[in-house]
Amino acid sequence: MKWMNNLATQLLWSGEISNRAEKQVVADKLAAMVKDGQTIGAGSGSTSFLALQAIAARVQEEGLNCRVIPTSKEIEMSASILGLQVTSLMSDKPDWYFDGADEVDGGKNLIKGRGGAMYREKLVMSCAAQTYILVDQSKFVKKLGEKFDVPVEVQQEALHYAETQLGLLGANTVNLRLAEKKDGPVITESGNFILDCNFSEIGSDLEAKIKDLTGVIESGLFWGYNPEILSN
Ligand code: 5RP
Repeated sequence: MKWMNNLATQLLWSGEISNRAEKQVVADKLAAMVKDGQTIGAGSGSTSFLALQAIAARVQEEGLNCRVIPTSKEIEMSASILGLQVTSLMSDKPDWYFDGADEVDGGKNLIKGRGGAMYREKLVMSCAAQTYILVDQSKFVKKLGEKFDVPVEVQQEALHYAETQLGLLGANTVNLRLAEKKDGPVITESGNFILDCNFSEIGSDLEAKIKDLTGVIESGLFWGYNPEILSN
């Protein structure tokens, strides 16, 4: 038996989707790559949300048998509403992974995590043999950090230690990400805080140095993962 109430049947997205038409073009390109029988890791954010809908349309029209491993509650809920089979890393390995990004440089390095889902995004990406990053033209930068800070997810009690250590790694500013429609900080799906860190220089060793700090769960810096970039 299926739930038929509004929240179980209507797709929700928080706010306007920026550059929606451009993102839709890339989402459709990605959906065209799905093959019957595949398990697909699904990233988070609005581009991934559009891609998931395009995949669901193909699954329904062509009767494809596909499973999806979501990286956030938002994508898990959407996949379920769209009638996709949802699974997890506990029982399945993704054939491939797709996701959006906030910034992409010339070496295909990324900043991600505007949506706060970078921990599960990096985990599912790491499990997949191939990753596709879906971006509209606004995401390309000469140098990482041009438009976005590097988000760092930290265990709550590590807040002050992490701020101090991130400063020693060269962060100009370290801001606790605050929630909208709730007082106080954003609490991630794993129960942690997010620190948005502004760095003037982001080098190839920064991701590892951040990850090495006690209390850091993950950062939104994706250096050297060599994804395939799909754009409009
Ligand atoms: C979420 C992410 C997103 O992939 C990134 O923020 C891009 O989002 P959008 O597709 O909405 O522009 O990393 O944690």
